[in-house]
Amino acid sequence: MDFTARYGRYALIAGASAGLGAALADGAAVRGLDLVLVARRKGVLEHTAAALHERHGVDVRTVVADLAEPDAVERIADATADIDVGLLVYNAAAEPQGPFLDTPVEDLLANIAVNCTTPTLLVHALGGSMVARGRGGIVLVSSSAALQGIKVFVAYGAAKAYELILGEGLWDELRGHGVDALSYVVGATATPELLSRTPQAASNNPAARQNLPPDTALDHLRTPQQVAATLFEDLAGGPRRYSHAADEARERANAGLTRAEVVTRIGEQTTALWS
Ligand SMILES: NC(=O)c1ccc[n+]([C@@H]2O[C@H](COP(=O)([O-])OP(=O)(O)OC[C@H]3O[C@@H](n4cnc5c(N)ncnc54)[C@H](OP(=O)(O)O)[C@@H]3O)[C@@H](O)[C@H]2O)c1
Repeated sequence: MDFTARYGRYALIAGASAGLGAALADGAAVRGLDLVLVARRKGVLEHTAAALHERHGVDVRTVVADLAEPDAVERIADATADIDVGLLVYNAAAEPQGPFLDTPVEDLLANIAVNCTTPTLLVHALGGSMVARGRGGIVLVSSSAALQGIKVFVAYGAAKAYELILGEGLWDELRGHGVDALSYVVGATATPELLSRTPQAASNNPAARQNLPPDTALDHLRTPQQVAATLFEDLAGGPRRYSHAADEARERANAGLTRAEVVTRIGEQTTALWS
């Protein structure tokens, strides 16, 4: 597929300084797209931007913004007013972890802002001109945590479910206007973020995993580069795609179980890995 012909010249990756976001930016640049990269850490973001420019020769601009803040969308719109953003990939996430009732209210609100409010408003800000041009792409990076209620990540899973359903609805509304919308269900990925939270994933020692229940997310860990490649293989294949075949298979199998069974099973795994 010719990505610039299908989407336009620029891809904007929200949450692009490291991990999966940087791999997604690399995947867009490999396909000839110029880049707008958004994240909070200026130094890390500029380092990633310089490396991508050096590697692929594409134009890269950066926007330092906190996607939890109410002015984030306006800052991004101002920084991109002179260009057409053809592909929007919303990758950033807030991930409150731990018992719901012990989670500070400000973390719960940041979860809603980063995972629900800001992607909604960013799609609203950028989607209209995609429709006017008759081409574009919108990817909302969701999570396998969105597929059922999930203890330890109660608010995160709920917010990622919002993102998942938002993308599916957009797919149906926008596909008649030349715009590909897609919800991308991402499973366990060896990003710095995951490795910092999950000692068993970071460890090369199999003993670190021996007391885990069978078939946990860590049995299917993929690299950010693999997860990015799977997205670009089928970006036009909405409304929902999975980064991990195992998550898609589990979702199908879960249809035959009660919700209590599904939620209890994932709860046992998250308790073993993250409590
Ligand atoms: N890793 C996994 O196993 C996994 C599993 C399921 C789903 N996912 C989903 O995949 C996506 C990325 O995964 P990840 O969390 O592991 O981390 P990641 O790929 O490292 O991405 C996090 C990126 O988002 C940026 N970011 C985070 N909060 C931000 C904020 N408030 N404002 C602006 N930028 C922000 C970070 O940069 P700064 O810190 O510089 O701002 C970083 O560049 C998320 O949507 C996540 O829900 C990941």
